[in-house]
Amino acid sequence: MVATLSVAVPKVKLKHPPLRIYRMGDKVLRQPAKRVSQINEEIRQLARDMLQTMYSFDGIGLAAPQVGIPKRMIVVDLYPDKPEVPPLVLINPEIREYIGEAVAGQEGCLSIPGVFCEVMRPEGIVVSFKDETGRPRILRADDLLARVIQHEIDHLNGVLFVDHVENELVLDQELRKHGFQMQDVQRKGKPSAAPR
Ligand code: NI
Repeated sequence: MVATLSVAVPKVKLKHPPLRIYRMGDKVLRQPAKRVSQINEEIRQLARDMLQTMYSFDGIGLAAPQVGIPKRMIVVDLYPDKPEVPPLVLINPEIREYIGEAVAGQEGCLSIPGVFCEVMRPEGIVVSFKDETGRPRILRADDLLARVIQHEIDHLNGVLFVDHVENELVLDQELRKHGFQMQDVQRKGKPSAAPR
């Protein structure tokens, strides 16, 4: 077999995805992730497994901590129905600049399945990262792509989208409806009452 730097995998739903997705309440989602020091075949295989898992659960973004691996790496694909569009792998991503106004948008998360709420985020960003080949890159992202990248980078810092939701009442209802609890939310400046 010839070695390849590509991380492209078929954009299909597997009955048995390669990785398990951790859910809100699991501690790994609240740990800050560590930088990736070497971009090698092991990292590329992780990217493939993450993508395959993401496609299997209808996600458009996934961060390594969500599969229990506290590394600073995310995968994004806004076009799961377009096989010709390659996915994005962002290793050690850093937001360099925020652009424009904060705008409201609906978000969900594979670690909090079923829960959807509105979150305010800057509409554009400039992000630096290394891709799966180790090449340094800078990307200007707007709208949905900017939102997804910000959401996924939050995961690398132990932050979940529900932490940003302003309407506590709506959030509480939405969480309960899907079997989650308000005590696992860490609102800004208000750490969760019950450490676990
Ligand atoms: Ni998420």
